[in-house]
Amino acid sequence: MIKFLKYSSAPRHIKNYIEPIAAKEFSVYPLVAETQWVTPHWIALSYHDDEIVTFCNIVEREIFIDDKMYKAAGLNNLVTPEKFRGNGYGTKLVIEFKNFIFNKINCDLGLLLCSDNLVPFYEKLGWYLVDCPVHYWQPQGIKLWQANTMLLNPDSSIQPGRIHLNGLPW
Ligand SMILES: CC(C)(COP(=O)(O)OP(=O)(O)OC[C@H]1O[C@@H](n2cnc3c(N)ncnc32)[C@H](O)[C@@H]1OP(=O)(O)O)[C@@H](O)C(=O)NCCC(=O)NCCS
Repeated sequence: MIKFLKYSSAPRHIKNYIEPIAAKEFSVYPLVAETQWVTPHWIALSYHDDEIVTFCNIVEREIFIDDKMYKAAGLNNLVTPEKFRGNGYGTKLVIEFKNFIFNKINCDLGLLLCSDNLVPFYEKLGWYLVDCPVHYWQPQGIKLWQANTMLLNPDSSIQPGRIHLNGLPW
């Protein structure tokens, strides 16, 4: 069973469970540790036998691609705790993310930032790499993203020349 909860009203015990797991996974990367990240709008939770087996965050944001505004859904902090990995839970959640963003919250596209090793995982699920500058806000000013950016849109028709996330990254 997969649930989508508004981040602002998600129970504290759920945040207390997932946030340290995500922090442990990602804070080892210097780029992640030194970046200020946005607070998400949604938490997606996948359950098996009442246990959370995978989770991710979703950000809703109007971004700019080649100066045109799009309603983007950002996917971040996708984690399957180690003992549950390799059972297809991550794949299933990313598929449900797609249904949710296009059918429930009416986004134009999905966007995620990731490291090289995860690119094949997302490519299998219909995401594609973009090869263009991606800018985002930080307290010090506008920054250029230094790792991969992937998009998801129904016919892969958006081929950006430049992207501005129009806020903190996810
Ligand atoms: C990536 C992750 C969410 C996958 O979850 P999962 O429930 O094990 O996913 P699935 O069982 O659906 O699929 C596993 C697939 O992901 C691939 N995969 C998982 N982690 C990977 C990694 N670090 N590098 C490369 N491939 C990886 C596996 O090889 C497998 O591929 P296959 O289907 O071709 O065999 C999980 O490994 C995880 O939490 N990793 C640490 C956090 C992370 O990197 N999250 C992604 C942020 S962008």
